[in-house]
Amino acid sequence: MSQPIDHTRRRLIQSLGLGILAAGTFPRLIFATGGGSPRPVSPNFHPDVDVELTARPTDLPLFKGPRTHVWKFFGQVLKGPENCLTPMSGSYLGPLLRFRRGQRVRIRFRNELPEDSVVHWHGLHVPAVMDGHPMYAIGPGETFAYEFEILNRAGTYWYHPHPHWVTAKHVYRGLAGMMLVEDEEEMALGLPSGAYELPIVIQDRSLDRRNQFQYSSHMMTRMRGFLGNRIIINGTANATFSVATRVYRLRVLNGSNSRIYKLGWDDGSPLIVIGNDGGLLERPESRPFVMLAPGERIDVWVDFKGHKLGSERVMRSLPFTTGHGMMGGMGGRMMGGMRGGGMMSGSVLPLGSDYPLFRFRITRQESGDSHLPTRLSSITPLRLGDAANSSKSRTITLSMRHMSALLNGLSYGMDDVAPWERIPLNTLQIIEFDNGFGVGHGMRMPHPMHIHGEPFQIIKRSIHRRFGNAYETVSAGLLDSGWKDTVLVMPGEKVTLLKRFDDFKGRFMYHCHNLEHEDLGMMRDFLVY
Ligand code: C2O
Ligand code: CU
Ligand code: CU
Repeated sequence: MSQPIDHTRRRLIQSLGLGILAAGTFPRLIFATGGGSPRPVSPNFHPDVDVELTARPTDLPLFKGPRTHVWKFFGQVLKGPENCLTPMSGSYLGPLLRFRRGQRVRIRFRNELPEDSVVHWHGLHVPAVMDGHPMYAIGPGETFAYEFEILNRAGTYWYHPHPHWVTAKHVYRGLAGMMLVEDEEEMALGLPSGAYELPIVIQDRSLDRRNQFQYSSHMMTRMRGFLGNRIIINGTANATFSVATRVYRLRVLNGSNSRIYKLGWDDGSPLIVIGNDGGLLERPESRPFVMLAPGERIDVWVDFKGHKLGSERVMRSLPFTTGHGMMGGMGGRMMGGMRGGGMMSGSVLPLGSDYPLFRFRITRQESGDSHLPTRLSSITPLRLGDAANSSKSRTITLSMRHMSALLNGLSYGMDDVAPWERIPLNTLQIIEFDNGFGVGHGMRMPHPMHIHGEPFQIIKRSIHRRFGNAYETVSAGLLDSGWKDTVLVMPGEKVTLLKRFDDFKGRFMYHCHNLEHEDLGMMRDFLVY
């Protein structure tokens, strides 16, 4: 199974009318801030899984002391296998959703928040109207029935709101959840499952003395991205997993607003990576560390065999530098101040410092006999020569200036598609993200660039030599193989990728997954026509 997406399902989807909706429905736009219409369930869609997902404010006992006010997704199964929804009790995260490739899924999103919102299924290839575009945001008290078929291959995906200007705030308050897709290819491998498969969502928050999440929308924070002073694993205070002396599969998601992690084991042993954004790699890869930017996922194989009962292994974020500066070369001092103390937010956890993320305490003797497959999957490489634009790539420059974050000099416009953003349906495209490679000066920050729709393959990276030293602290951890939907583009770097635009017409976002940057306007739409 080499394709990330099952295109044979296309006809079925079109016969359900979703293809047409995707291309043709543009609900009313109110003040260009979203304002879509509620969407009822469609009577001719026959779901295999039918769940309700309600977003509402609540107060949870997450930490010692007062309860924390959060916004949370609550789920309920109306129809479907038992494991399709696992509530995250004691956590602000939404339920873990588990789907199977080929399933028809209906998710009735009910907005019980005091604001407009919309849900995006990060990494899934769904019709434009189902993709959580801000123009489909619904108001308080309204319901939107998402209906789509799972076309993606097995992998770790996630869902989160995507409302115009305020995605960062909605996610920060707690609205997010992990979503796993299974398929036959993966199941045949017999990878660790059940209690031996651990979802791990890494986020950061700033807590005040009353256990409330503090968020600063100060311009400095927005330009840099929010950095909290405390790491939160799986939406709860407990960051220790108690494990047995055997093999585990860790499904790790960076669900932070802007914080980038450099994952590495405290004992210096390499990370064994078996998958990333778009599912399993061809074969396991061993890395001294792995960079994980907001929106990215990795699937890690770890064996606790031979560890003493009572001992611990810790996953850390290791030190790195991003080489960014507020004003190119002269901003070092100023940035140093911000990185060190996050002057504005009082952050005690500067980006790129060295700190623990989560730990495993070995508490049980058990012998499980999973062994690491040498071959996991097969991935057909996309070829430059097959691209519709093989003579001229679509280059998107990333820049930050005048208190805004721009893509090719433009910030987000609800109804605005530039010529280079028009993409013919069913084509392969070369896309380049240029973060100062071609210029080498200006304010440069890392940007985790995400494209909606089908996953892509990373073809090439080039770094401007002015940024070479900082780059060396991260480059061995950039895991570019397999299928990706989010790619970390470092300062001074240009990344070339190949992506297909199949099946669905309509507007699909691409943006920086530093959510403060996204909300500053570092987002645009591709129009697939
Ligand atoms: Cu995870 Cu457009 O987002
Ligand atoms: Cu997405
Ligand atoms: Cu960015």
